[in-house]
Amino acid sequence: MTANQPPVVLEIKNLTKKFAVDGGRVLTACDNISLKAYAGQTLGIIGESGCGKSTLVRTVLQIHPATSGEVIFEGQDILKLRGEAARQNRRKIQMVFQDPAAAFNPKMKVKEIVTEPLLNFGLIKKSEVDARAAELLQMVELPVEFMDRYPHNMSGGQRQRLGIARALSLEPKIVVCDEATSALDVSVQEKICELLVRLQKEKGITYLFICHDIGLVDLMCHQVAVMYLGNVVEYIGGGRRISTEGMHPYTKVLLKAVFKVDFKPGERIEPLESEVPSPLDLPQGCPFASRCEFCTDICRQQKPQLKEVAHGHLVACHLVK
Ligand SMILES: Nc1ncnc2c1ncn2[C@@H]1O[C@H](COP(=O)(O)OP(=O)(O)OP(=O)(O)O)[C@@H](O)[C@H]1O
Ligand code: SF4
Ligand SMILES: [Mg+2]
Repeated sequence: MTANQPPVVLEIKNLTKKFAVDGGRVLTACDNISLKAYAGQTLGIIGESGCGKSTLVRTVLQIHPATSGEVIFEGQDILKLRGEAARQNRRKIQMVFQDPAAAFNPKMKVKEIVTEPLLNFGLIKKSEVDARAAELLQMVELPVEFMDRYPHNMSGGQRQRLGIARALSLEPKIVVCDEATSALDVSVQEKICELLVRLQKEKGITYLFICHDIGLVDLMCHQVAVMYLGNVVEYIGGGRRISTEGMHPYTKVLLKAVFKVDFKPGERIEPLESEVPSPLDLPQGCPFASRCEFCTDICRQQKPQLKEVAHGHLVACHLVK
């Protein structure tokens, strides 16, 4: 930790998630991942579709049970918590969904949606719903009069503000945003990101931010993990930008594709012509070997481990010394 590096708030240690799939086979979605997130900062997670980003955060949130590994938060491995202890812990790590409308009960009014978590945890009484709903709507810059509306009478951006207000109602320390802005128009996306940044500064929240827009990742994130086939192949922090200082051959191809001339903002990361190998059959060596132009024998035989190439910058590649 450097002088101005805030404390670690969440540490993912050697986390592996395997799914049992048809035919008795095993799919490795996350393979021995270790990452740290710092207080009041944003850890970005990028990579092509299917590389394991959502599985990683869903395992942290205990939506899926982990196969092995630990997630240390407030001095304990939260994956071991059960019953009431797990429920209480869930207050502190909340999620903003890509499509909040799908997560809301359409029969509930805005004020009910936004205060439901508080009522569930017994933190407010029914008589306090209107007052608390008003505060939460103001926090996300929605008109207080919206509290008696239904979510289908709101725009996508307004619904996402509501999703943020609901996620923040319990005053979590960590908020997971899984493509939380991807479904929105670019201008609306910008406003939502400004809101997330303001709330982070005011409340010291740590974000885990999955996003396929590298420009946004550069703007929003203090650290970035690049995932490929269930592995973190590069991790960059210390004030560096992934867009200009990414070193792993996969990161470079990803960036080249994203910054191609006809790339449209908000477009998904779909960079390479060739297929990603199946997570049902992970290679024994470098996960990127089958698509890497620099691949040599050692790459096929031995899996490169993440090693520090500069302070706060780790790369898993035999080529990068
Ligand atoms: N419940 C599940 N059962 C079996 N396999 C799963 C399950 N959830 C995810 N997977 C598989 O795990 C791998 C990682 O999926 P994941 O959804 O985490 O990727 P992602 O990086 O979030 O992709 P995207 O950018 O498309 O959201 C994929 O091969 C996916 O098919
Ligand atoms: S270890 Fe080898 S195959 Fe893997 S990214 Fe580096 S050069 Fe390419
Ligand atoms: Mg996903």
